[in-house]
Amino acid sequence: MREELNVLRGEALRDIASATDSPALDRVRVAYVGRAGRLTNAGEQMRHLAKEERPEIGKLLHEVRQAVSAALEERTAALQSAAEEAELAGVDPTLPGVARAVGSMHPLQVLQRRAVEIFRRMGFALAEGPDIETEWHCFDALNTPEDHPARNEQDTFYLPDGRLLRTHTSSVQIRTMEGQAPPVRIISPGAAYRRDEVDATHLAQFTQMEGLYVDEGVTLGDLKGTLEFFFRELFGPDTSVRFRPHFFPFTEPSYELDVRAAALGGGTRWLELAGCGMVDPAVFEQINARRGDRAFDPDKVTGFAFGFGLERLAMILYGVPDIRMFVENDQRFLSQFAP
Ligand code: PHE
Repeated sequence: MREELNVLRGEALRDIASATDSPALDRVRVAYVGRAGRLTNAGEQMRHLAKEERPEIGKLLHEVRQAVSAALEERTAALQSAAEEAELAGVDPTLPGVARAVGSMHPLQVLQRRAVEIFRRMGFALAEGPDIETEWHCFDALNTPEDHPARNEQDTFYLPDGRLLRTHTSSVQIRTMEGQAPPVRIISPGAAYRRDEVDATHLAQFTQMEGLYVDEGVTLGDLKGTLEFFFRELFGPDTSVRFRPHFFPFTEPSYELDVRAAALGGGTRWLELAGCGMVDPAVFEQINARRGDRAFDPDKVTGFAFGFGLERLAMILYGVPDIRMFVENDQRFLSQFAP
C-alpha cells in the first residue's frame, strides 16, 4: 500500500502540473479527490489493513493528501493569474482613462434651489400639491367664477373625470390651509399647465413658485418687504421692485411686481416677474366652510400670497433666448449650468 500511495502522489502531482486550463484542472481534481477519486478510494482501503500497519500508512496518506491539495491550490492560482494576464495583454494601463460625462443640474433646478434657500431663511416651509387637481382647488376655492376665462376648455387641460392639470400652483395655498391652521408660511415650487401654443416664450407645461403667509396682523408691508428682500438676494443689492395694481380673483388688493436690476439685462427696463396680493377674505371663507371651523376667520387673520414663473426668470438671468431649450435636453445647453 505504501508503494501504491507513492505512485499515486507522483502521478497526481504530474497530472496537476500538466493541466493547462481550469476545466482540465477540475477533471484532475475529480479524478483524485472527487467522491470516487483515487485518493478517496485509497482512504477507504485503510480499513482492510492490519492494525499494526495503520498508523504508518495513515500518516503517509495524510501527507499525500496534503501534497495533492497544496498542488491543486497552487495550480489554480497560477492558472487564474495567467488568465488575467492574457486578458490584459495589449492593454496599456498607464494610458489616460476615458472621461465619463458627468451630468449637471438643470438650470431651472439651480434657480429653484436658490429661490427656496432664500425663502427658507425667512421661515417659509416647503409645501406640495398634486399636478392633477380638482376644479374646486384650482378655481372655486380661489374665488374664480364659473365664467372666468382661465377655466375655459381652450385654456385648461381637463381630464374626462372633470379634474384638470393645475393652471397655477395657487391650488397649493388651498391644500395647505385645508390641513393646517394659522400661522401658515409656505413656499411651493412645481409644474403648472396651460393650453398655450408652444413658441419661444410659451410652453404647455412650465414651473411656478407659490408663496403664502397667513397669521394675525400680516400686512401689505410684509408682502412688499418679503418680495423685495427675495429679489435683492437673488439679483443683487442694486435691485429695485415696483408694485403695479392688478387683478386676481383670490387676492385683494392685487399687484403685479416689476423688477429692475443690473443682473436683468443691464437694469434699464422694468420686467414684470410676479403676481401677488393680500388673500381675499372670500378665499378664507371657502376654506372655513370646507374645514368646518373658523381657523381662517378674516376678522382675525390676514395673509399675503404671491406666484411667479421660474422659466421666465431663468431666461432673463441666464440669457436663454428660447424657453423650449429648457425641455429639449440638449447636453450642450444643459452642461453650461453646472453644478
Ligand atoms: N396664480 C397667479 C398666476 O398664475 C399668480 C398669483 C399667485 C397671484 C398668488 C397672486 C397671488 O398668474
